[in-house]
Amino acid sequence: MKGLASRLGRLGTESAFEVARQANEWATAGNQVFPFHIGDFNIPTPERVVEAMNRAIADGKTGYCQPPGIPELRNALAEDVGQLRGIDYALENVIIQPGGKPTIGKFIMAVMEPGDEVLTPSPGFPIYESLIEFHEGKAVPYTFYEEEGEFFLDFDQLKAGITPKTTMLMFNNNHNPTAAESPREELEALAEICLENDLWVLSDEAYIETRYEGQSQSIASLPGMAERTVILYTFSKRFAMTGWRVGASIGPPEVMEIIGQLNVNDESCTNHFAQWAMIDALAGGDVMCRPIIDKLRVRRDLTCQLLNGIEGVSVGVPASTFYVYPDVTEVVEKLGFNNTIELQEDVLRETGVAFCPRAYFGTPLPDEPRHYVRLAYAGIGQADIREGLARFKDYCEA
Ligand SMILES: Cc1ncc(COP(=O)(O)O)c(C=O)c1O
Repeated sequence: MKGLASRLGRLGTESAFEVARQANEWATAGNQVFPFHIGDFNIPTPERVVEAMNRAIADGKTGYCQPPGIPELRNALAEDVGQLRGIDYALENVIIQPGGKPTIGKFIMAVMEPGDEVLTPSPGFPIYESLIEFHEGKAVPYTFYEEEGEFFLDFDQLKAGITPKTTMLMFNNNHNPTAAESPREELEALAEICLENDLWVLSDEAYIETRYEGQSQSIASLPGMAERTVILYTFSKRFAMTGWRVGASIGPPEVMEIIGQLNVNDESCTNHFAQWAMIDALAGGDVMCRPIIDKLRVRRDLTCQLLNGIEGVSVGVPASTFYVYPDVTEVVEKLGFNNTIELQEDVLRETGVAFCPRAYFGTPLPDEPRHYVRLAYAGIGQADIREGLARFKDYCEA
């Protein structure tokens, strides 16, 4: 029998699902698990959107539809996304996708040649690195530094990674896992680098609307950037609907045309009746989502307060996303672990608290000075946050 394709050796994964596997195993064995590991909700999708989907099914929206998405939704998204970002988008700028994730691979396939280099955040969403390498590019990491619980781009390191082969920048403002959010000056400096070096930009805006304070900003809004930026848009986090699988690629029409053609080849079309329901989701918008944000804000405050009450753990209070990225260096050193994978596995066994180690967010740089882990609080209620972090405190301070 012939073997499997050699390119599979370059395909990575999203290791949060590995912690989920361990946590399920632990729960199946009869133990309580405190689920801080995965960016998913225990909050339902707003009723209005569910009703709109039921109506669409009853109306017979159950067959194929156009591969780039139904025009009504493409128009509605062009308006919604354009308005927040101050960009004049139209239907031809929007291609509907089954979730946010497909934009990553399709954009890479549209613009990256084998051997090209792509600036990629590390820590960052691990699928960037996986798909760049799978398509025979080279992921070149850039990183962040922390100042009093806030994370900022390390520009020296980012610039040092640029070569004549650099084609593309992966950028995730409202960042998973650190919750970093670039102030205006940082966005401007980054845009200047992209213009000077003629880079394509993937602006992963999965969390741009998951915000508690302040104003959302997109790099696509800066002068000269919309022409070279594809926005990864998703309904998943904004509307608490990760399992529905609806999102979009939004950017220049010549790239959108290719991404639409990839849709034909990959999935024919995104779920037809769900697309109709998304028109209602956009109409309900942030007002409809207020209860989701209010619930998340309470959890954020509680999680940060309890983490900061643990000896050897410190974390800032982020203004967006539903992640926190505490520094646990002192705990790792005190307990004699080599890295946060060892800490994560031991904490799960000893306390039932599940979270993700730093190593699950892209290949770590060789000389990272501090140890971090990521906790997500969208899928865990207040009582379990209290109980789980009380157990984690006992563990760290024993
Ligand atoms: C930064 C980032 N981008 C993209 C995605 C994928 O979103 P979706 O579930 O809509 O595909 C996620 C999901 O966790 C994410 O954290």
